[in-house]
Amino acid sequence: MGNSVNNSSKEKVLVTSALPYANGRIHLGHLSGAYLPADIYVRYKRLKGDDIIYICGSDEHGVPITITADNEKVSPKVIIDRYHELNKLAFEKFGMSFDIYSRTSLPLHHDTAQEFFKSYFDQGLLIEKKSFQFYDEKVKMFLPDRYVEGTCPRCGYEEARSDECEKCGSLYEPSELKKPKSKISGETPVLKETSHWYFPLGKYQERLEKYINEMSEKYGWKDNVLQYCRGWFKEGLKDRAYTRDLDWGVKVPLDGADGKVLYVWFEAVLGYISATKELSEKRNDPDLWKKYWQDANTKYVAFIGKDNIVFHTIIFPAMLMAWNDVNSEKYILPQNVPANEFLNFEGKKFSKSRGWGVDVLEFLELFSADPLRYTLAANLPENKDTDFYWKEFQSRNNGDLADILGNFINRTFTFVNKHFDGKVPPLGQLDKIDQGMIELVRDYPKKVGDLIERYKIKDAVFEMMNLARAANKYFNDSEPWVNVKKNKEKCATTLNICLNCIYTLAELFEPVIPFSSAKIFKMLNAENGGWISSGNFVLNEGHVLGTTEILFQKIEDKLIEEQTSKLGKIEGEEKPEDEEITIEEFKKVKLKVAVIKNAEKVKKSEKLLKLQIDLGNEERQLVAGVAKSYEPEQLIGKKVLVVVNLKPAKLFGLESQGMILAVDTTEEGKVKIIEIDQSINPGTLAK
Ligand code: 2FM
Ligand code: ZN
Repeated sequence: MGNSVNNSSKEKVLVTSALPYANGRIHLGHLSGAYLPADIYVRYKRLKGDDIIYICGSDEHGVPITITADNEKVSPKVIIDRYHELNKLAFEKFGMSFDIYSRTSLPLHHDTAQEFFKSYFDQGLLIEKKSFQFYDEKVKMFLPDRYVEGTCPRCGYEEARSDECEKCGSLYEPSELKKPKSKISGETPVLKETSHWYFPLGKYQERLEKYINEMSEKYGWKDNVLQYCRGWFKEGLKDRAYTRDLDWGVKVPLDGADGKVLYVWFEAVLGYISATKELSEKRNDPDLWKKYWQDANTKYVAFIGKDNIVFHTIIFPAMLMAWNDVNSEKYILPQNVPANEFLNFEGKKFSKSRGWGVDVLEFLELFSADPLRYTLAANLPENKDTDFYWKEFQSRNNGDLADILGNFINRTFTFVNKHFDGKVPPLGQLDKIDQGMIELVRDYPKKVGDLIERYKIKDAVFEMMNLARAANKYFNDSEPWVNVKKNKEKCATTLNICLNCIYTLAELFEPVIPFSSAKIFKMLNAENGGWISSGNFVLNEGHVLGTTEILFQKIEDKLIEEQTSKLGKIEGEEKPEDEEITIEEFKKVKLKVAVIKNAEKVKKSEKLLKLQIDLGNEERQLVAGVAKSYEPEQLIGKKVLVVVNLKPAKLFGLESQGMILAVDTTEEGKVKIIEIDQSINPGTLAK
């Protein structure tokens, strides 16, 4: 029957949005993919009175995190703590209404993920296989997934990952990747044998196909999602490695599996379940998570971006099926996976390294959340990639929000305050135009609601603004400024209808612009009665209105031009946040004053100088990365601070017995040595 909508009875709904990696700030593209559409859906369902929970959190394992940590030379924990907090804050400021924003680093999640793995292992489902994986001989480690880049064996894309191509979406064995290169050392990695546990996806193909066909037929899955799945089935599902050689992640819960963790995708999807368990704990309702996850009456909707389709339509459902096969407490599978395409930025992909795009916190320092929510919602990449343009943002704000919605509300309030003492005027005799408007207001909630139920959020937003457009026209056609002198009763009727229409608009728009909607309700001095009351003319004659305020400020050209001129320019890199250490830890570092006795270049190195230093009672050799900043002779006689208890290291075959303290300068690659006053004696301890 396709696209069926059940509007009458209350639904129990579980909604998840893809857990973003806590390795960078979320940007507008993320919002458009998996977050804003879900939030609009959830807010609408709450207003409708459905029983709904909305789950999200940070994905804190996997190679993206360790790569960021390596680049910054800090532990993965520093990275996840930083970005979990930053992204949580960004979501809050943007008005996301998660019931919980959890983290996969929590022990509760590790336990949950291990429990699933053990269940599969105990059923004898997992296949232990030896395979060849890329190994970087220079840094002596296996290189999982994204540590290796090469050419896709299927489509020829040159920046493909070791086992997955972002461009064509294929998964393959690392040995198939062409021209592999280690992202750590830049060297060509070798293939080295290792052993991993594999999940037999192929075993579930028939059931998965049946499940997807049934669900899509009943609930109208999006074409892009279906095509994607069918492509996978056509190729045939293969065993997928469930484990990786890595330190950071959920440990494989088996003896002798040291140095192995669960593959992030197998545990991240379970993060939805563990996050719901955390919500149970927070709400002091231990069974809450089961009431959603293990009740066949729950409707589960997983909002994601298109790059996550396979994990949510194939891998996660297969994992749940495998669990359900042997456990009495059975999980529900997604009823729909309304994946969005991508949002680009001014015609190109978001790219932090190229300074292309803007992150959410940065954006919300300049502009408020609602205009951004509205602009993104009006242009969601539901069926094809779309773009964010600064100019469009300005025109959506100035044109739609300020000139259409804001203006209608403002002119109505101004009129009522001036001529009707700030109270709702009586509804008198209705003419055709009035009746038409009343009907429109009555019909809109259902019209908009049906679209949201079918995940056609963009169309729903378009319709919301259409009601505001119609309302402006009604105001114009009714000419209250003429009738206020000629026919006050008629004028009163018009304004009564306008105020009730504003009430309906405030309800309809709540999921999209919640901050402004709350303001409108305050101006109306009324409560949001939920989708049910929407369109029902609840503001009666004599009701006293609240204080009027301006809802949307116009955005001037200058502000927009400032933003467009920043495009493509790279701002300062994110500075690592300070990881706290104790005073005891700090005291372990021995810093002493030394005088540089001699300095010379290191053969074949552009960066290093070999230094002889005098520490008062001993001399040492150091190798320091200062050759780009100083000529050797400039350094002789300088008094400097040296870490004297650093483990000696060999650089270019030369032993370095300590480290000189220096600070970065604004010139790339150049540093300035911290100099100590000449009056201080070598060997003096710094504290
Ligand atoms: O692509 C991503 O950002 C992943 N962190 C999404 C994970 S979704 C789910 F598995 F939790
Ligand atoms: Zn490819």
